[in-house]
Amino acid sequence: MKLQIALDDVTLEQALALLEQVKDDVDIVEVGTPFMMEYGMEPVRRIKERFPCLEVLCDTKIMDAGAYEARLAFEAGADYVTVLGVTDDRTIQEVAAEAARNSGKVMADMICVPDLPERIARLEELGVDVIAVHTGVDQQAAGRTPLDDLREMRAHVKHTAIAVAGGIRLETLDQYLLYRPEILIVGGGIAHAKDPARAAKELAERIHEAG
Ligand code: 5RP
Ligand code: MG
Repeated sequence: MKLQIALDDVTLEQALALLEQVKDDVDIVEVGTPFMMEYGMEPVRRIKERFPCLEVLCDTKIMDAGAYEARLAFEAGADYVTVLGVTDDRTIQEVAAEAARNSGKVMADMICVPDLPERIARLEELGVDVIAVHTGVDQQAAGRTPLDDLREMRAHVKHTAIAVAGGIRLETLDQYLLYRPEILIVGGGIAHAKDPARAAKELAERIHEAG
């Protein structure tokens, strides 16, 4: 199981300083969508340059122009891009083909997918590397968590890695570990913690204990 830190509402300087503190405890660094909107691909380049041992995911949330947008992130050094699971199959195929050309990986974000089992089956046929359950920040504010979707995902995914994101914190970690996602994504649970380094260390310890 890997720990992915999502960097969303940070400056580039804050992100690099935070990563210095947590670099031994995280496996994947996510350049979050708002961070990318603020700085473009610069954080991908700078993080990959400063922390070459860490994988970098750019949360591109691609909806169209699959190959073109994926290429921007891969050429900057990203190991993963994200594509929205609700988009059309052709866009997913374009992103997957671009990932293959760059030895990169594709995570499909299932935010707002209405029929999870049907879409999971199709995404597995299309050959994405990871399928991510995701309860967005605005849905979190209405009290939703990704737990029910994760349970459903675990029941239907046949061979693809599963990721989960959406407000996960140390206090709620155990309920997600039960479903053994291959990637656990934590944003605010680390970045907004009183002691981010300690939060990352404790999350990593519990995740690695769980295997
Ligand atoms: C929001 C995102 C976030 O990166 C994701 O939800 C993880 O952050 P948090 O743990 O704070 O929810 O993609 O759209
Ligand atoms: Mg994100």
